[in-house]
Amino acid sequence: MLEVKELKKSYGKKEVVKNVSFTIEKGESFGLLGPNGAGKSTTISMICGLIPYDQGEVMVDHLSVKKSPMLIKKKIGVVPQEIALYPTMSAKDNLLFWGTMYGLKGSQAKKRVEEVLDIVGLKDRAKERIETFSGGMKRRINIGAALMHEPELLIMDEPTVGIDPQSRNHILETVKKLNEQGMTIIYTSHYMEEVEYLCNRVGIIDHGEVIAIGTQSELCSRLVGGSFIQLTVENDTLQAIEAIKILENVNEVVKNESNTIEVFAEKPYETLSSIMAAAVKNGMKIGSVEIKEPNLETLFLQLTGRSLRD
Ligand SMILES: Nc1ncnc2c1ncn2[C@@H]1O[C@H](COP(=O)(O)OP(=O)(O)OP(=O)(O)O)[C@@H](O)[C@H]1O
Ligand SMILES: [Mg+2]
Repeated sequence: MLEVKELKKSYGKKEVVKNVSFTIEKGESFGLLGPNGAGKSTTISMICGLIPYDQGEVMVDHLSVKKSPMLIKKKIGVVPQEIALYPTMSAKDNLLFWGTMYGLKGSQAKKRVEEVLDIVGLKDRAKERIETFSGGMKRRINIGAALMHEPELLIMDEPTVGIDPQSRNHILETVKKLNEQGMTIIYTSHYMEEVEYLCNRVGIIDHGEVIAIGTQSELCSRLVGGSFIQLTVENDTLQAIEAIKILENVNEVVKNESNTIEVFAEKPYETLSSIMAAAVKNGMKIGSVEIKEPNLETLFLQLTGRSLRD
């Protein structure tokens, strides 16, 4: 469905997308996970033909975005990071507007508005103005706008940032259902739980580069040492970290920018007591200790030394 090949983009001297390549098959749900400023929105904008790329190529269903921009726009639905709706118009009229932009006409467009309102769960608010909607409801209509022309590929840029849990759940359920019905999805987020729930494959992007890509289990199997120990600490810890690093069975110690330290050890349960002893002996004040299973957040931490949300 999508082939992104060695994509590059610079603004002035700053290379914001460095050499991004990935392929998505029809029917997949692909997660693009990365912290603020990683280059997610820029990559998406280039895929959709909204901004030109400096180098590389994007093929949607074997068509080049550069050569066939109009044909590609029909295949793709984009949910932008910023809400793109007319506040003084009703939900229905906003959807009608977007439908018309994509060439829907008359009764066909009206019928599709009803269907889309049903998909996003806002049929009962159809006639109300967007400016009277909550943030979560606006987001749902924003998604609806991208669904009007029944795209084959739906690309969503952080569609759940800063909204209420009810709308968030509704959005996640909707995306899951659309994918089960055969729509290919690209879901961009820095919430790893959402990506874990929705996506069969994940690309982790940082500083304009894809640093890991694969199914969740493939990615997590790359983690050194599997499960790990997380310590919340209350003071400066350099000496203690050095002492923990040289313990038997300890593979890696990562200090987070928040007050946590992750210790990756071969046998975390068995190694815990020696870690605690080394920590206390070297003056580390520990607030809490947890043994955690590996996940995408941990992988990101191990690859970059930073947390996704730092
Ligand atoms: N039009 C622009 N002009 C100059 N720099 C830009 C422009 N658009 C993006 N950038 C820079 O490119 C980098 C990547 O931005 P981008 O919006 O793609 O990140 P992101 O991964 O979507 O981040 P976020 O999670 O905050 O939305 C950032 O450093 C940003 O400042
Ligand atoms: Mg963005």
